[in-house]
Amino acid sequence: MKDFLNKIICGDCIKVLGKVNEPFADLIFADPPFNIGYKYDRYNDNLKKEKYIAWTKEWMAACKKVLKPAGSFYIAIGDDYAANVRIIGDKIGLHLRNWIIWHYSFGQHTKQKFARSHTHIFYFVNDEKKFTFNDFAVRIPSGRQLIYSDKRANSKGRIPDDVWAEFSRVCGTFKERQGWHPCQMPENLLQRIIAVSSNPGDCVLDPFSGSGTTAAAARRLGRNFAGIEISKVYVRQSIKRLESLKKQKSQNLFLDIKELNELKRLSVDMNLPAQRIAGDKTLLNLFVNQLSVRLNTQKKLDTQSVLPVLMDCKIDDNSKK
Ligand SMILES: C[S@@+](CC[C@H](N)C(=O)[O-])C[C@H]1O[C@@H](n2cnc3c(N)ncnc32)[C@H](O)[C@@H]1O
Repeated sequence: MKDFLNKIICGDCIKVLGKVNEPFADLIFADPPFNIGYKYDRYNDNLKKEKYIAWTKEWMAACKKVLKPAGSFYIAIGDDYAANVRIIGDKIGLHLRNWIIWHYSFGQHTKQKFARSHTHIFYFVNDEKKFTFNDFAVRIPSGRQLIYSDKRANSKGRIPDDVWAEFSRVCGTFKERQGWHPCQMPENLLQRIIAVSSNPGDCVLDPFSGSGTTAAAARRLGRNFAGIEISKVYVRQSIKRLESLKKQKSQNLFLDIKELNELKRLSVDMNLPAQRIAGDKTLLNLFVNQLSVRLNTQKKLDTQSVLPVLMDCKIDDNSKK
């Protein structure tokens, strides 16, 4: 277990995890190749259907073996094999909590059929009664609060729906984009999963680490990570990506780095331009209130300390280079 902690290991996840004898992961996020012919450095994304399904069973079982009893297991998958993943999950004893649809913008154009703009994300748990779900960490202001100013609204906001439309694909022009990997997940999407389904200090495993998005999100949120990736090139590059995160410090007098990250995460989750929130007193008050709920602290946040950061951040990660 110690061999894995806060490392990206180069290898085949089935073989690497096969050598582990005890469950160590509190949360697993897996984004395998979808078998749709993407060009990876070391993996052929064009297997015969039966072979791909057999391989999917193998890696899902290897992951389940290292998932702690109260652990959660998220799997991202495309249309072609979503039904298989759902059925394999049942067969190996996982319990489905949500079938999430990630509806993204900036999908690729098509000529003869509707353009693909979604990915399935299965949210499974090992034990249907015992699991981590930090609802306060993902709550957003409700329609009752935002639109109707309804006094009966829950002041803690609401849990987001199971269709996630607030995270765009990471396009080539985005600052967040690591140019050396063909299909990078948005870090904010991973942050939502990690914030809700793990606690600080927990271990988050990604068996298909790719550009290191899960590890980066885990590090930002104070979790441990364990990544496995078959390509040496991707491992080397993702380690560089993680090293640049170590140096992050807050330049703000009132908010520390954790509070700043949370502020950015909330502004993405609310799916409203930062300027719009900053320019509307009611929205700004709701934003500050929701930020306090998410941070779950006694510290009094006021609009005066939040406003300049909000004006400044313009949601860094999704902005253009
Ligand atoms: C869809 S990408 C993951 C992208 C990642 N979520 C990110 O945001 O960068 C799948 C990755 O799995 C890696 N891979 C394929 N087979 C593997 C295996 N058996 N073990 C470990 N990694 C593997 C590929 O090299 C590729 O980088």
